[in-house]
Amino acid sequence: MIAVTGANGQLGKLVIAELLQSTPAASIVAAVRNPESAAELKSLGIHIRQADYTKPETLTAAFADVKKLLLISSSEVGQRLPQHHNVIRAAQQVDVRLLVYTSLLNLDQSTLALANEHRGTEKFIRDSGIPFVMMRNAWYLENHTGQLAAILNNRTMLGAAAEGKFASASRADFAAAAAAVLTSSGHENTIYELAGDHAYTLSEFVAEIASQSGKSIVYKNMLPAEFETALISFGIPAGFAHILANSDAGAAQGHLNSTSCDLHDLIGRNTTTLADAIRAAFPA
Ligand SMILES: NC(=O)c1ccc[n+]([C@@H]2O[C@H](COP(=O)([O-])OP(=O)(O)OC[C@H]3O[C@@H](n4cnc5c(N)ncnc54)[C@H](OP(=O)(O)O)[C@@H]3O)[C@@H](O)[C@H]2O)c1
Repeated sequence: MIAVTGANGQLGKLVIAELLQSTPAASIVAAVRNPESAAELKSLGIHIRQADYTKPETLTAAFADVKKLLLISSSEVGQRLPQHHNVIRAAQQVDVRLLVYTSLLNLDQSTLALANEHRGTEKFIRDSGIPFVMMRNAWYLENHTGQLAAILNNRTMLGAAAEGKFASASRADFAAAAAAVLTSSGHENTIYELAGDHAYTLSEFVAEIASQSGKSIVYKNMLPAEFETALISFGIPAGFAHILANSDAGAAQGHLNSTSCDLHDLIGRNTTTLADAIRAAFPA
């Protein structure tokens, strides 16, 4: 049995869809915080089990006959270490044979604030003795294309990444890589640095939007503290604004860039291009 945590999330749903290409629905567990929100997954014929990272008893029950487990990192930044620890302990108790974790690109050198919880989680996983695979994901293209409507509206993108490059890929690319690891052999105790084939700066990102829209769009680079203040003024919660500004500052130092071919090799195809991602995100 293969289980995917956070299966109601955007990445989780894509992983389940990929798994179904090669794995019978009866061998897949969608481990979700709220089973009542999993009607879409249930219609696929897979097992739906409650798995709340904050409730250890749900985790051991959800993973009962699971041999391969994908732990999709929690979206509750700041709470993730104890939550992930609960998942890893439960996996140990039920004798999971492969624990796959969605970590962060360039984790060994990363200065991003987000890196700390991933480092702690990777350590828990290593210390657990469970064979592991670290899927060190780059930035999602969707983190940037999700801003498309606002950028088109304002003709400006704000950021603090300067000329730092993002070797981003789509959630679908990362999902395909996770499914490949879960459905093939020989990945035990491997770290994959998962990056898109072509990195871009935020100036190049807006240039592509300008080219596709025929509108003139500029990228305005700010100091991280200024960018954080601007995000808060737009109504973004302070903690999240700090993470976004800090991540851009890390990107400026190259921490979200990589020339690793691990993602391309795992999925056996080119990763989603910036042009295609922007085209797909354009308002209809
Ligand atoms: N590489 C990147 O650029 C990037 C960007 C954003 C996030 N991430 C990380 O990648 C993860 C997956 O991304 P995504 O886009 O799929 O995020 P998402 O759509 O927000 O999904 C996150 C999932 O985590 C689940 N979750 C949160 N707290 C939980 C808990 N206490 N117990 C069980 N499940 C819990 C959520 O459950 P519910 O459905 O019940 O809310 C949701 O299904 C994120 O959680 C985050 O750690 C990476």
